[in-house]
Amino acid sequence: MEHPVTFAICGCGNRGLEAYASYQSLHPERMRVVAGADSRPERLAMLRQRCGVAEDMCFASAEELLARPRLADVLIVATQDRQHVPHALAALERGYHLLVEKPISPDLKECIRLRDKAHEAGRAVIVCHVLRYTRFYAALEALLRRGDIGKIETIDAVEHVAYWHHAHSFVRGNWRRSDETSPMILAKSCHDMDLLRWLAGERCLKVQSFGSLDYFRPENAPEGAAMRCLEGCACKDNCPYDAEKIYITNPHCGIREVGKIWPLTILNSDPTEENIYEALRTGPYGRCVFHCDNDVVDHQTVNLTFANNIHATFTMTAFTELCRRTVKVTGTLGEVEGDLKENKLLLHRFGMPEQVIDLGNAKSEFAGHGGGDMGLMDNLCALLSGGGTQGLTSIDASVESHVMALAAEASRLAGGETVTLADFEAR
Ligand SMILES: NC(=O)c1ccc[n+]([C@@H]2O[C@H](COP(=O)([O-])OP(=O)(O)OC[C@H]3O[C@@H](n4cnc5c(N)ncnc54)[C@H](O)[C@@H]3O)[C@@H](O)[C@H]2O)c1
Repeated sequence: MEHPVTFAICGCGNRGLEAYASYQSLHPERMRVVAGADSRPERLAMLRQRCGVAEDMCFASAEELLARPRLADVLIVATQDRQHVPHALAALERGYHLLVEKPISPDLKECIRLRDKAHEAGRAVIVCHVLRYTRFYAALEALLRRGDIGKIETIDAVEHVAYWHHAHSFVRGNWRRSDETSPMILAKSCHDMDLLRWLAGERCLKVQSFGSLDYFRPENAPEGAAMRCLEGCACKDNCPYDAEKIYITNPHCGIREVGKIWPLTILNSDPTEENIYEALRTGPYGRCVFHCDNDVVDHQTVNLTFANNIHATFTMTAFTELCRRTVKVTGTLGEVEGDLKENKLLLHRFGMPEQVIDLGNAKSEFAGHGGGDMGLMDNLCALLSGGGTQGLTSIDASVESHVMALAAEASRLAGGETVTLADFEAR
């Protein structure tokens, strides 16, 4: 009989509880959560109720949990961006394998410290670059490695963040300030840097980036805009960013349309319509998008060159209706393009009919990140059951994506200067 891998979770928020602990209900034979820590008592109550964790194995902080001898095979580090490395280093001292949320850290030296410590400890340290575990990107990578389009020449990737998601996370929400969490290119797009590196199949050598916070600034507030959307704002009717529209009626994320799921669970762990209105009246998510204390960019582009002479472009923009990722790769014998949301690849080998590669309905499986959240857990449980330590998104591969993202941010801040990654990493 298969023995479940045991897990402790530091940070039982959206990721710790909804994205990863939920795997236990699908595969109790593979995963058993035995301990958890969160500074919010209601999240620990949810952990007990959903995963059956004993009261005395629930802790009020990661620090308290980590003061105990090792309680499980794996520790999931799903606290906020700047807490990951201290928690991860303490956990390696205790002998845990680790599943660490991205970004590892906004400080490159910390990323490298964790990589070195992981090697020294001989433990698996897997970073949650969940998109590698989707059928879409796995099929694309396999197709490119088989040489179906010949030698790869260019890759163009676009991250369509969606206006409502951007307003939620990057204007009003947790990732609005780079000094508190991370710059946008790391917070949101280290996934894309990781995918570009993986698809290219060689190291990235240089990057150059442009971008800015252009729109969500006080000087762009329309005449008559109130500081909070529910406080008599004169612009409410014509503003797509109106908090009441986004959280109550929006077809992608309003409570009346989608029910009690993310992003509504961020406003309140029990997001009834009444609780959402209360959060909009009193909390950060009811603020006017032009009057927040945000500083992360709302659009950014990156040019990248790889060791095998592949050139790539990446665009991140807030200003899209749908939240999706698209990619196009050209090669000497053909081209392939696709949309993660559609879960389809269009392969065109030159001179031959176009082939549609349908990868099924990503939504109907395990919704999170096109199936990537659950794919990651499948992979991690199989890796550890087999005694391995080097997963698809091991710390070595993941640190490269962080170097790319942080170098791109340095380039953007320097007005688009070209940054050589080897020099940047050695600084
Ligand atoms: N892999 C992905 O695609 C992906 C997607 C979204 C977010 N993330 C990352 O995951 C991490 C968590 O994001 P989230 O959306 O779950 O945030 P969240 O705020 O919902 O969860 C973080 C939790 O940590 C708890 N916490 C804070 N300090 C603590 C401490 N000292 N000890 C124990 N618990 C503590 C908070 O109470 C909260 O419940 C972030 O770093 C974020 O950037 C990754």
